[in-house]
Amino acid sequence: MSDGSSKYLLEDVIFTQEQIETRAAEIGRQISLDYAGEEILVIGILRGAVMWMTQLIKSITVDTEIDFMAVSSYGNATKSSGIVKINKDLESSITGKHVIIAEDIVDSGVTLNYLKEYLEHMEPASIKICTLLDKPSGRKTDLEIDYIGFTVADVFIVGYGLDVGQKFRNLPYITSVVIPKGCAEGGAAGTADAI
Ligand code: IMP
Ligand code: MG
Repeated sequence: MSDGSSKYLLEDVIFTQEQIETRAAEIGRQISLDYAGEEILVIGILRGAVMWMTQLIKSITVDTEIDFMAVSSYGNATKSSGIVKINKDLESSITGKHVIIAEDIVDSGVTLNYLKEYLEHMEPASIKICTLLDKPSGRKTDLEIDYIGFTVADVFIVGYGLDVGQKFRNLPYITSVVIPKGCAEGGAAGTADAI
């Protein structure tokens, strides 16, 4: 790894590219059945959800629009504080549309809880959530998740769009990472960390 990444130790691969893409295809087919005869709008949450979203929509056969939002959450490198800021809003109107939010990972659920409420004010026909990873051990909300790629234990994960300090998003697989003591606290404390 190049300099900026070398302080982190990548552990074993948890999900391979093939496993992730097989799962994306399964969920894409399920979404196609669930929304048969309808049109959907998939909203990708920048930046972490980009790989997952693009893989997922390849297997969706109903008419599909895409849009993106970017949000930051104030906190340190590994935990969000619950204060969510919208850095890039939608370009499309969602009123009357069937919306699916594509997310990389749900941990506390605070980010998506906030976003879902925000989007509900725009009166879409429906809103569902499709996440690559679910980390239920971190949950602080009763957020309902409709489509889950994989459930993971309470470890910090990178790859396939997920980062630590903006690194490792490009890995085509998912792996756990050891974060040296001091990095998490020092990471982005008090600053908005793009998720
Ligand atoms: P939540 O609001 O606590 O659910 O936080 C969700 C966001 O935290 C995700 O979109 C990720 O950006 C980040 N996050 C939570 N757990 C991990 C992880 O294990 N690896 C990388 N990012 C994570
Ligand atoms: Mg992140």
